[in-house]
Amino acid sequence: MRSGRQRFSRKRSRALHDVLMDKVLITGATGLLGTTLVPYLKKCENCVVTHARRAGADFLVDLDNRDRSFEFLTQVQPSVIVNLAGLTSVELCQEEPNSAYLANTRTVENLAEWLLQSGAACHLIQISTDQVYDGVGPHAEDQVTLTNYYAFSKYAGELAADRVPSTILRTNFIGRSKLSNRESLTDWVYASLTSRKSVQVLRDVLFSPLSMNTLGEMIQLVIAKRPTGVFNLGSQDGMSKADFDFAFAERLGLATSTMSRIDSGQATFLKAYRPKDMRMDCSKFENVLGVKLPLLSDELNRVAKEYHEFT
Ligand SMILES: NC(=O)c1ccc[n+]([C@@H]2O[C@H](COP(=O)([O-])OP(=O)(O)OC[C@H]3O[C@@H](n4cnc5c(N)ncnc54)[C@H](OP(=O)(O)O)[C@@H]3O)[C@@H](O)[C@H]2O)c1
Repeated sequence: MRSGRQRFSRKRSRALHDVLMDKVLITGATGLLGTTLVPYLKKCENCVVTHARRAGADFLVDLDNRDRSFEFLTQVQPSVIVNLAGLTSVELCQEEPNSAYLANTRTVENLAEWLLQSGAACHLIQISTDQVYDGVGPHAEDQVTLTNYYAFSKYAGELAADRVPSTILRTNFIGRSKLSNRESLTDWVYASLTSRKSVQVLRDVLFSPLSMNTLGEMIQLVIAKRPTGVFNLGSQDGMSKADFDFAFAERLGLATSTMSRIDSGQATFLKAYRPKDMRMDCSKFENVLGVKLPLLSDELNRVAKEYHEFT
């Protein structure tokens, strides 16, 4: 039987652990990435506080509202902010540049300004995008080419984050969505092929994404090490979206007779311009963080396993 003294010291060490633990605020926690990241970061024993704009989080605040954002951040007093909030539809950003600015830039300006004004000992992890690149890849961090309003507004968000102690992660991700109303690239391929719908996939658009699970592990590493600066974070190599989609289908044993390869110029479903080669050189992240990032074929295997486990 446990003695009173043992119970007391367990309670005290738990309280000490809570005090010493990072308070990690995830802004935009209810989206595609947030719903995978939040359970993982909780499992890693962080004290996680979640935020969104409309529903489903500990705090609901529109981060483009400066006063409400300041109040909320002062109340939470995070030691790390992982900012996932944003407007991710490239099409919508192109149609409504001001919405893109408010969601992808003003929100980060408000976070950064609070950090500067409050003097809080807090590290910002800003999730950015591989859409800030174009031209022949793989791209190093200084080879930015901005070709649509989504990329412009995310890059302007990076500049705001750069004013405070921050890690800016340019990334792209794949994997099974936990949300019924938010589809990832792999969900789209999976749903289309299982329902025998015809789909066109892009042979001239190249990328180097990570699975959301690997990205979560890398974000946990960044929380622990807090490197400052801009980092590409993707798979080591990369491939065209068309090759990726066929390889994904093959791993799941899905028939591909309804899937055809086209060039992006023929894609009538795309209105806004998309960069052709978003592959990233991630050696800076690997060197500074002391990790080896996976090949995209490894990430395909990891993601295919998620779908196998689900079915
Ligand atoms: N999806 C991709 O393939 C991809 C690729 C590369 C980089 N990224 C970046 O990764 C991050 C996460 O992407 P995601 O796909 O998980 O996004 P998502 O599914 O679209 O979710 C966006 C989140 O941001 C919140 N949000 C939007 N506007 C807000 C505002 N004004 N104030 C407060 N919260 C706001 C949303 O809350 P409500 O739902 O309550 O409005 C939601 O929780 C984004 O910054 C994105 O740019 C995404």
